[in-house]
Amino acid sequence: MGDEVLANLMQQSQVFPPDEAFAAQANATADLYAEAEADREAFWEKQAERLHWETRWEQVLDWSNAPFAKWFVGGRLNVAYNCVDRHVADGHGDQVAIHWVGEPGDTRDITYAQLKDEVCKAANALSSLGLRAGDRVAIQLPMIPEAIVSMLACARLGLVHSVVFGGFSPAALRSRVEDADAKVVITADGQYRRGKAIPMKANVDEGLKGIDTVRNVIVVRRTGIDAPWTEGRDLWWHDLVDSQSTEHTPEAFDSEHPLFVLYTSGTTGKPKGILHTSGGYLTQAAYTHHVVFDHKPGKDVYWCTADIGWVTGHSYIVYGPLANRATQVVYEGTPNTPHEGRHWEIVQQYKVTIYYTAPTLIRTFMKWGEQIPAGYDLSSLRLLGSVGEPINPEAWLWYRKHIGNGSLPIVDTWWQTETGAIMICPLPGASALKPGSALRPLPGISAKVVNEKGEEVPHGSGGYLVLDQPWPSMLRGIWGDEERYRDTYWARFADLGFYFAGDGAKYDDDGDIWLLGRVDDVMNVSGHRISTTEVESALVSHPTVAEAAVVGASDPTTGQAIVAFVIPRGGVAQDEASGEEAIKALRDHVAKEIGPIAKPRQIMVVPELPKTRSGKIMRRLLRDVAENREIGDVTTLADSSVMDLIAKGLKSGS
Ligand code: WTA
Repeated sequence: MGDEVLANLMQQSQVFPPDEAFAAQANATADLYAEAEADREAFWEKQAERLHWETRWEQVLDWSNAPFAKWFVGGRLNVAYNCVDRHVADGHGDQVAIHWVGEPGDTRDITYAQLKDEVCKAANALSSLGLRAGDRVAIQLPMIPEAIVSMLACARLGLVHSVVFGGFSPAALRSRVEDADAKVVITADGQYRRGKAIPMKANVDEGLKGIDTVRNVIVVRRTGIDAPWTEGRDLWWHDLVDSQSTEHTPEAFDSEHPLFVLYTSGTTGKPKGILHTSGGYLTQAAYTHHVVFDHKPGKDVYWCTADIGWVTGHSYIVYGPLANRATQVVYEGTPNTPHEGRHWEIVQQYKVTIYYTAPTLIRTFMKWGEQIPAGYDLSSLRLLGSVGEPINPEAWLWYRKHIGNGSLPIVDTWWQTETGAIMICPLPGASALKPGSALRPLPGISAKVVNEKGEEVPHGSGGYLVLDQPWPSMLRGIWGDEERYRDTYWARFADLGFYFAGDGAKYDDDGDIWLLGRVDDVMNVSGHRISTTEVESALVSHPTVAEAAVVGASDPTTGQAIVAFVIPRGGVAQDEASGEEAIKALRDHVAKEIGPIAKPRQIMVVPELPKTRSGKIMRRLLRDVAENREIGDVTTLADSSVMDLIAKGLKSGS
């Protein structure tokens, strides 16, 4: 987002003081800031007491080997026990944990007692395959209860899960399975997408071709479509799991025992396996879910619309809500299947009270029109949330007006796969809300906006967002790549010990924080992180492409959209390369290599790319082209006529 856009945003800014009735019943009060400030470690220690520990910790934080943190040192706990068993032990076995809604309209209500049985059976099944604590399990599943059960069964056994988004390609699955050396993959025969059953197991098989370290593939029957089968390796979930005992004694693991790896895009082509561990992660996931969503166990019906393939699904569908004994809706499908009111129909039916979604979806709802939510009873709602990218004030105001009855608090939550849980966000009931601003770090969290030298910028100015104190749910590294962990996050402000988030941010005159998007080569498309390099490598792996450059251009619905510039290989004529079919083939190729979410919105065939004398592609200029702006300063180009060539080429091509 440019400065101009930001100035506009901030000008429009209105302030909504907290509603008194909401404040009177809120889980959080403004005192929390002072309490945490007075003694950060004592504050987190108190938050850790939300959980059941088999052995209490001896030390809250060990930061002596920074940037590798240890939280609640010496403590032992079982994450799955905390998310399931203890609620049953406390007499809440009959409370619904999950109201599951399938895309075709089938439903399942699962109580905590039933969830415990399912998790125990799945844990017994995984043990029967010889898996032992520390082994990795890859999970590529649609949004069905077995996805949550699988994650919890892994946690129960100390297995490290690596969930791979259901929309990712065989190649993406393959690189994740290889990087983490997964021994077992859990998947489904197929998944529903916009009313159609599409294959999943067939893709998994393609991804696993030639990999001999995967001993078993467990397959949930979801759609009933044909699934290719490898005898001796593949097992149906119902054959393996259903007959297992519902008895399983959970073992307590060290607070720093690895819980999961989740891959996310970085600035290079290879995704990073972000590592999270147990005690600190669960503490912050539970604490934030409690204060940010004002969650009341046994009363609220909570719905986070994310997919478990992303970190939001990990922290705010699985671990945070279940640790807090939430009753939640889990919906399998797309928001417009079979009609554009599907979400509101679900809110009405289950009397959802807390709804957490992404700006890209809010903008889609805006496009579909306010008459759609107006057709449903949304009066059960009492709090709304947003995550994934900066929410533009227009979308914020629409969300409040048309979904939030013009009165509900909206929590704009800034965080990352790496931070594990929410970091910067309002405290509902305590904060005065500003549309478009995530406001300030939560109690217990410290963040700053700094300049190149790491000095905090004055109010009214912008810079880089850094986290200057360790936090419990921070990543513990990148799987198998210590150096990349240090380089990516800690090298930029090494002397100061700041974590570099990769986001630009600005303080307004009150010192509130406005996030401005990524400052690196990572794009944010519909809230999903995709690196420019990743898409570029996919493009150049196509036989007709010699060179490619990719930029994120602003897009009214998806936040950013992928725009690619490609130079055809010698022998491929410019006209032929820019033909409709050739472009479609390239877009499909990217979808096949990475996944449909990475499909470029637009591909422009060009004779040259703008490069500096040292050969670096000047994306800034390409962004100007992609956003139809006048081309900026070209004096650092090795060949300043290139931009003319590109402009001319585009005119004749279109
Ligand atoms: C962006 C998703 C502004 C940001 C939880 C961050 C946001 C990246 C917000 C992380 C927000 C997420 N306001 N920007 N409320 N939430 N972002 O790892 O650029 O998928 O660095 O985690 O999304 O994306 P990730």
